[in-house]
Amino acid sequence: GAFNIFNYLSARAVIRGAQKLALPVILQTSMQAVRRFGPEELGTMLRQLAWNASTNVIIHLDHCTNLDMAKACMDAGWDSIMFDGSALPLEENIRLCQEVVSYAHPRGIYVEGELGRIGGVEDDIAVKASETSQASLEEAIRFVKESGIDTFAPAIGTAHGQYHSAPKIKFDLVAELKNAVDTPIVIHGGTGLPETTFRKLIRNGGAKVNVSTAIKQAYIHGCQEYMKENPELLDPIGFDQFLNCRIEETAMKHMELFHRDFL
Ligand code: 13P
Repeated sequence: GAFNIFNYLSARAVIRGAQKLALPVILQTSMQAVRRFGPEELGTMLRQLAWNASTNVIIHLDHCTNLDMAKACMDAGWDSIMFDGSALPLEENIRLCQEVVSYAHPRGIYVEGELGRIGGVEDDIAVKASETSQASLEEAIRFVKESGIDTFAPAIGTAHGQYHSAPKIKFDLVAELKNAVDTPIVIHGGTGLPETTFRKLIRNGGAKVNVSTAIKQAYIHGCQEYMKENPELLDPIGFDQFLNCRIEETAMKHMELFHRDFL
């Protein structure tokens, strides 16, 4: 499970959920979150939380399109970086991933790459349905081998944000990729997929599953619910605890599902 967090409370809640299940977890930050706090402040905060955790916590940068930010995050303690060159021609995507890999690998940092374009909105990255494209097996194999990436996010029909109709997912492509390359497959657009879809994707080779919108919903809907029920209460710690529970439950629900066949 890889969960997009956006502040101290959300990061801590996801880690606490993982600890309760004794499972490792990936905390992801968007470029927007990095810009909001700065890599130093955010990196220090997340490293401290990871250090104190009783489970293995990986800190990952999600959908980074900027080389300078990727390097700044690597310098500030991120364990893994997604370089998203999916809007670029294949050659350019490979070249930029290679550049990130050459900075990352000597520092022991992983790199995730994307091929094909995943639709929907993830913070400030928006890809319209008309702009989406899916990766072909041949191009995907070439991309993985030539770029040197450690984890691979192929566009397979899932999308960021809410699903308004059932997505058409290329389960076979995931299985074919798993057989063709020795690189873990990343599934984006986890929010709203049914349990059967998650399990089929994981059985076919999905090794990292990204969930962002569900965590944001737990936080914002939790705020709205608390304020409605307690409009006059001046108890910020109680308020934070309520939100912590909402996020923790959401993360745990997904983690249990992802690991069900393995627990
Ligand atoms: P969702 O917002 O659909 O959960 O997607 C998360 C994601 O893939 C982040 O990269």
